[in-house]
Amino acid sequence: MLNIAIVGCGNMGGGHALAIGYGTGYTDWQIPQVIDEEIEATTTDISKILHLSGICDIDPVRREWARNEGFRVYESYEEILDDPEVDIVLVALPNHLHREYAIRAMRAGKHVLCEKPVCPTSAELEEVLKVSRETGKVFYPRQNRRWDPDFLLIKKMYDEQLAGKPLSLENRIGGGGADGPFGWRKEKRFGGGMMLDWGVHLIDRIVQLNKSKIKQIFCQVINLNGTDVDEGFNLTLVFEDGFIAYIESGAGHYDGITPAWRLNCEKGIGEAQAMTGEGAVVLLGKKREGDFSAVHNALPVRKPTVKRGEEFNFFLHMPKNVDEVPLERLVFDRNALYRNLVGCIEGTEEQIVKGEEALRVLRIMEAALLSAERNSFVEFE
Ligand SMILES: NC(=O)c1ccc[n+]([C@@H]2O[C@H](COP(=O)([O-])OP(=O)(O)OC[C@H]3O[C@@H](n4cnc5c(N)ncnc54)[C@H](O)[C@@H]3O)[C@@H](O)[C@H]2O)c1
Repeated sequence: MLNIAIVGCGNMGGGHALAIGYGTGYTDWQIPQVIDEEIEATTTDISKILHLSGICDIDPVRREWARNEGFRVYESYEEILDDPEVDIVLVALPNHLHREYAIRAMRAGKHVLCEKPVCPTSAELEEVLKVSRETGKVFYPRQNRRWDPDFLLIKKMYDEQLAGKPLSLENRIGGGGADGPFGWRKEKRFGGGMMLDWGVHLIDRIVQLNKSKIKQIFCQVINLNGTDVDEGFNLTLVFEDGFIAYIESGAGHYDGITPAWRLNCEKGIGEAQAMTGEGAVVLLGKKREGDFSAVHNALPVRKPTVKRGEEFNFFLHMPKNVDEVPLERLVFDRNALYRNLVGCIEGTEEQIVKGEEALRVLRIMEAALLSAERNSFVEFE
């Protein structure tokens, strides 16, 4: 059992406090609207691997909240660093503070779990990784959306080529609201902007699918409110093997209308809705007699609760006589990242989200913003 203390008890830090403090792994807003327990095949019992030592925050309201939840509140960050019982510091501060707080923790002998985007620039992250190597302390980037059910579903379609060879992919997520990013997220000096917010997750997942080099990057940013950050972006990544990924993030995309994911493949497409395990693979083939569509087969890979023959209306153009082929239960461990962090520290597991991977994602984002500035393709790797 390792002891973890959290610095920054806002939206995310508070969520971690609940997840670890109560031992469930659920942050408050994840219960159960977003996470569907039926699709969780395996779940690490977080209460057996991590103990919450306490939290610290400069905001008295957040400290009071933590006290009311029954968590220990440290008076200062120094108090956490001086506590010999603390093995890991979880950095959940606004982005511009990550570098300094992570380095101080490692120099004080603590391992670090750092919220994404770990740092606002690749140069800052290089410095952090150098300190991790010098001190021998684990620095773990919390790029947790690799374990989201929608991504796992798309990854299954991609890796197993359920609709044939993947050719291109679209992924979009709404966020920021009509007024654009809020709070510190709307200011560059605090590491704001949608690229550093959602961009990290979106890019991190796509480079987990296609491992070839990225040759070219093209990006346009959206700014509707006159802030000094990107309030949204449209990004195209062209991979060495010809695969193309198109990513959108911004206030204008209401997630309920279009599927978050579309994987275009040689023999058909795969689609998945944001955050859930809902999706389908549709294979294009010969027209069946009586059909008005080229679609002749479909593999709904929705929640395993979907019964054979049940009306399947995910695709409005789908003919009634689709063949449903039940797929295996989606394996999903909502606490996989925490488990891997502990495994790395104890020397029993290899780090899944590597510092070098976080660095590459930051470099991709920097190239994307450069492309937007120049309004032209940027050559990458
Ligand atoms: N991985 C994810 O899915 C995910 C989701 C949301 C946020 N995040 C990340 O979590 C981090 C925090 O985001 P948030 O939404 O919780 O922001 P937030 O504004 O809700 O919380 C930040 C907290 O840090 C506190 N704080 C600021 N300066 C401090 C200091 N010097 N010492 C102690 N406390 C200080 C603030 O008072 C606030 O309570 C960001 O890096 C963000 O990118 C990650």
